[in-house]
Amino acid sequence: MKRIVIFASGSGSNAENIISFFQTKTTATVTHVLTNKQHAKVLGRCKRLGVSSLVFDRNDFTETDKVLDFLKKEADYIILAGFLWRIPAKIVEAFQGKIINIHPALLPKYGGKGMYGMHVHRAIRENNEEETGITIHFVNENYDEGAIIFQAKTAIMEQDSPKDIAQKVHELEYQYFPETIEKVILEQNGQEK
Ligand code: GAR
Repeated sequence: MKRIVIFASGSGSNAENIISFFQTKTTATVTHVLTNKQHAKVLGRCKRLGVSSLVFDRNDFTETDKVLDFLKKEADYIILAGFLWRIPAKIVEAFQGKIINIHPALLPKYGGKGMYGMHVHRAIRENNEEETGITIHFVNENYDEGAIIFQAKTAIMEQDSPKDIAQKVHELEYQYFPETIEKVILEQNGQEK
């Protein structure tokens, strides 16, 4: 049974969906949620679901080894579910091929620093794109540049607002993110649990 630690900065609806998915699986379990925001909505979800949560600050993350040491002890996989800071090189190095992010667009389009959440959906609306989607990818030291594992698309209608686009993207995320994580874990570990 592999141990997943989720990083989330905001609402955490993906975090909740992943936690619930793995509650019925023997492949992996979500042991902790880590957040950089003291009042993130995801903390309430963790409480309700009985999953441990921890808040850390920039100093813990980049200046000291506090977060790294915690992960080395507690995590086999790290899942970024709406987490907005870049992962420091020392964590990327320690978890090569074990950190997975979801991005709410079809990378390499609409990626990079500042491109997150509603910023992405507004930009897509402004550019009158006819489709958008999700990208699930491994994480390296650069924002949104690691190897792509999975993408799924959805059509955008003329009348769709950025909020409508966000909802369509979230639906794809809920449908595909947990099962893609499980597939990676199974591929990397065979059927060993
Ligand atoms: C998700 O749509 C995720 O793809 C996006 O933040 C949202 C978090 O929603 N991530 C990024 O933009 C990362 N660049 P949630 O907190 O409800 O899961």
